[in-house]
Amino acid sequence: MLAGKHVLLIIGGGIAAYKSLELIRLLQKAGASVTPVLTRAATEFVTPLSVSALAGAKVYQDLFNLTDEAEMGHIQLSRAADLLVVAPATADILAKMAQGRADDLASTVLLATDKRVLVAPAMNVRMWTHPATQRNLANLRGDGVLFVGPNDGEMACGEFGPGRMAEPAEIVAAIDAALGGGPLAGKHVLVTSGPTHEPIDPVRYIANRSSGAQGTAIAAALRDLGATVTFVTGPATVPPPLGVRVVQVETAAQMLAAVQAALPADAAVMAAAVADWRVANAAAQKMKKDASGRAPALEFAENPDILATLSKSPHRPRLVVGFAAETTDVVAHATAKRARKGCDWIVANDVSPATGIMGGSENAVTILSDTGAEVWPRMAKDAVARRLAARIAEALA
Ligand code: C5P
Repeated sequence: MLAGKHVLLIIGGGIAAYKSLELIRLLQKAGASVTPVLTRAATEFVTPLSVSALAGAKVYQDLFNLTDEAEMGHIQLSRAADLLVVAPATADILAKMAQGRADDLASTVLLATDKRVLVAPAMNVRMWTHPATQRNLANLRGDGVLFVGPNDGEMACGEFGPGRMAEPAEIVAAIDAALGGGPLAGKHVLVTSGPTHEPIDPVRYIANRSSGAQGTAIAAALRDLGATVTFVTGPATVPPPLGVRVVQVETAAQMLAAVQAALPADAAVMAAAVADWRVANAAAQKMKKDASGRAPALEFAENPDILATLSKSPHRPRLVVGFAAETTDVVAHATAKRARKGCDWIVANDVSPATGIMGGSENAVTILSDTGAEVWPRMAKDAVARRLAARIAEALA
């Protein structure tokens, strides 16, 4: 898919810039040509000479370099490409893009382009989670900018968390998907994620400890393989992925309605931790303590089982994947659950507190399908997501 494609690669000034050299190599191996643009700060991390040698092309650096303007103006530079890629995309570049600033060659090219832009953010975890950066990301997402990563992990600054630039191979896959490739191009995949909140009264609710991390990672991995993703999420603590259609819900009933409204889909991954019960006698007004000192009695009603409903629906996606969070006899319970719910695969995991999986960044799962149980080693939730997404792509091929 990349053969004959032309990528304009903007390299930002971050420690991850060294990975851009590998990215250039991989793109060329895949048959793409690369025109590199370096920001001034990037030259502190990689030399124009090494970039130019690897790309086999001139490196563009300066907005006001007359030779460049004579050979190829910045407007043309930004339009001659099939895709603009920013890797690493620093907090500063993202802020400039979000504001539409054009004070150097990279930002000017990004503003002048009529092509899609894919960014691979890389920055310190605090910079990534800062409200200013998150605000910029939301704006960029609204502008249709595509994202790959960042990943969770150990960072050069010694901290741990989201902020590591995606690996070059992942960026190549995202470029492929952005250019209409990717094994899930043209496929619609529905993902549910996060907890549900079931109201007790207008200010109180019953919830669970799901962070939405695994569902979010799965949605992002499916997107990176080219899928169109509808992401139906309860009130999760991790932000939804970029580049997917997000439907925010609160209760199980709303989640079911959103799932049904999103059909048809080629596949569905139901990673939400849906509350089994809702409060049947939820109060319309805030409940008050009364003089007798009696505590209110809550009555529960069973929530609809979204996974089972979808599996039995006439509009059933070709592949339905459920989750089973268990604390004992994981495989036995998950096997029974797979039969009861009528889904194709169950991703089972042990969420006993000792595993640290619930709310943590790693997961250890067993995949149950009609071919049996397959135990995957413990790995980052992102890695589980990528492996699962690749499996889904195989199954839908
Ligand atoms: O029954 P249990 O909640 O353990 O089943 C887990 C699987 O079922 C998950 O895939 C979850 O998203 C789904 N589920 C659902 N609707 C419910 C309860 C669970 O879709 N009401």
